Amino acid sequence: MKAKNVLWGIGLAALSACTGGKTLQPFERIDVDKELAYCDVQVHRALDSLGRGDSVDYTMEPRNIYAGETVWNCRKATKEEWIAGFWPGVLWYDYEATGNDSIRKEAEKFTASLKFLSEIPAYDHDLGFLVFCSYGNGYRLTQNPEYRQVILAAADSLATLFSPVAGTILSWPRNVEMYGGHNTIMDNMLNLEMLFWAARNGGDKRLYDIAVSHADKTMQNQFRPDYTSYHVAVYDTLTGECIKRCTHQGYADSTMWARGQAWAIYGYTMVYRETKDSKYLDFARKVTDVYLERLPEDYVPYWDFSAPGIPDAPKDASAACVVASALIELAGYCEGESQQKYIDAAERMLASLSSDRYQSRGQNVAFLMHSTGHWPAKSEIDASIIYADYYYIEALLRLKAYRDRQ
Ligand code: GLY
Repeated sequence: MKAKNVLWGIGLAALSACTGGKTLQPFERIDVDKELAYCDVQVHRALDSLGRGDSVDYTMEPRNIYAGETVWNCRKATKEEWIAGFWPGVLWYDYEATGNDSIRKEAEKFTASLKFLSEIPAYDHDLGFLVFCSYGNGYRLTQNPEYRQVILAAADSLATLFSPVAGTILSWPRNVEMYGGHNTIMDNMLNLEMLFWAARNGGDKRLYDIAVSHADKTMQNQFRPDYTSYHVAVYDTLTGECIKRCTHQGYADSTMWARGQAWAIYGYTMVYRETKDSKYLDFARKVTDVYLERLPEDYVPYWDFSAPGIPDAPKDASAACVVASALIELAGYCEGESQQKYIDAAERMLASLSSDRYQSRGQNVAFLMHSTGHWPAKSEIDASIIYADYYYIEALLRLKAYRDRQ
């Protein structure tokens, strides 16, 4: 072990306070280039398994791999298939890491399968995940003007789900009756990024106001006094009053669903980036601190912080990936001990995720194992899931850039 890579944590006292007083173990910083090279190997293995040339159906997007399976189970890119933008996003990130034009061509083809989403009415809030992870990254890397048009149209479409009465986006139009009102879910925070981007890139300036209103109302109504989050808030359709707070994918209405809190951490960090309003930075830190305090020793959460059967409950590596990526950004907005605390936590998460406990390596073609999609529905428990891979490679690229800046 190289001494310079052993991280006890500068500002150890601060981090220890933030981890509920748990004793911190020393760990080895990851070699980011090595882990990005690993991702590239897995991407090539996945592409080989999907077929090459004319035999590939680019409308089928990788979604999950269950224990014992070796290749991606794919789903048709439809408006209902919320994960369909992550595989194109993984390919764009791999292209960013390698500069390999053959990967860019694959990214372009899988991305093109999602264009129809900009030409139809919004089905739900996931339009942001679908279009911004695919076309958003594609535009960032290529400046292709057609991509910009797709994103702008999708942002306008997402904005049609905004209710001025509730002040938030209706996340699931199909569930209004089931929940008894206008519903907003924590995951929706991520999809504000596309609205902010559109407002800055020639779209309607109103998109910025919609995103800010959504972030404010969610802050007001979807957190407990200890800054843990509710998955779902329900608003009276006529008055806009918040009438119910509950869970959909968590263990119970009163518990902290790991990925829900991860979306909150990522979401408020991003809203601070877009607005530079310090109230969002303060809030991002509060929702992060409660998550860090309650993490298990390996920094990868159980799928819900009150999951039955802990310590044998399934983990959710995807939540750890989302948070690791967010904390690298958050650290960049902080100074001194706080900055060190957040980057140290992100380093620990990525060290764990990059170990043989979480990396799939020869077992399947994904980057990672041990994510949990929807435990209450008994769906995708302890599986490889495409959005874990997306946020893992994003976090690796962010860490590389962060280290280069130091
Ligand atoms: N956005 C759906 C999920 O996090 O499972």
